[in-house]
Amino acid sequence: MPNGIEKKAIFNYVTKLKPNVIVEFGTGKSATSGLEFCKALLHNKKGKLITYELGKEYFDSAKKILNEYATKQIVEMNLGDSLKFFDRKIIADMYFLDAGDEKLVNPAWVVPGKDYGEGSFFQKKESENLFHFKKIESDFSKPGTYVLCHDWTFGRGTYIKKYLESNKYDKWVLVEVVDRLAVLKRK
Ligand SMILES: C[S@@+](CC[C@H](N)C(=O)[O-])C[C@H]1O[C@@H](n2cnc3c(N)ncnc32)[C@H](O)[C@@H]1O
Repeated sequence: MPNGIEKKAIFNYVTKLKPNVIVEFGTGKSATSGLEFCKALLHNKKGKLITYELGKEYFDSAKKILNEYATKQIVEMNLGDSLKFFDRKIIADMYFLDAGDEKLVNPAWVVPGKDYGEGSFFQKKESENLFHFKKIESDFSKPGTYVLCHDWTFGRGTYIKKYLESNKYDKWVLVEVVDRLAVLKRK
């Protein structure tokens, strides 16, 4: 979940770039990022947020928080796996990566009895965020697409950071890092 300066960065990027479609992976319980995206889209008077949350309890909580924006058609909330987004053949203008657990990347890593439904913040191996990022890179981005990646410096985002460092940023520009939020732009 983004902190104060990260929220400000989200608001500023959305109001500056005026994206038509933003996709968020991991709505969360308090919908902190979602709320910021919605406020900025309302300010822009255009655009829509499509967001996914795997945990039912978290989804229900976020739904109450974002309800005002849902009725204004600013946000489309989806209960379920964010991987479902990739069936829709939509190329978003901006992505916010803030979900993550490892079970969909490699079922062998699933720990029996562990609750993967509601917010598993740290990963053992390759993170789901990196898996999502690679999908975006291969089929769901175009020059100018932005990816805002949370927890860049620890936890789930670090996998993307290492991946990009090993590829030496051939397809992406690291525009800036605001605390734990990295802003990437497709070349
Ligand atoms: C760090 S929280 C998100 C915080 C939220 N963006 C905010 O600003 O309040 C991560 C969320 O991702 C959800 N999640 C994990 N894996 C997911 C997946 N495959 N699809 C959708 N949501 C997922 C978790 O249930 C959790 O609520």
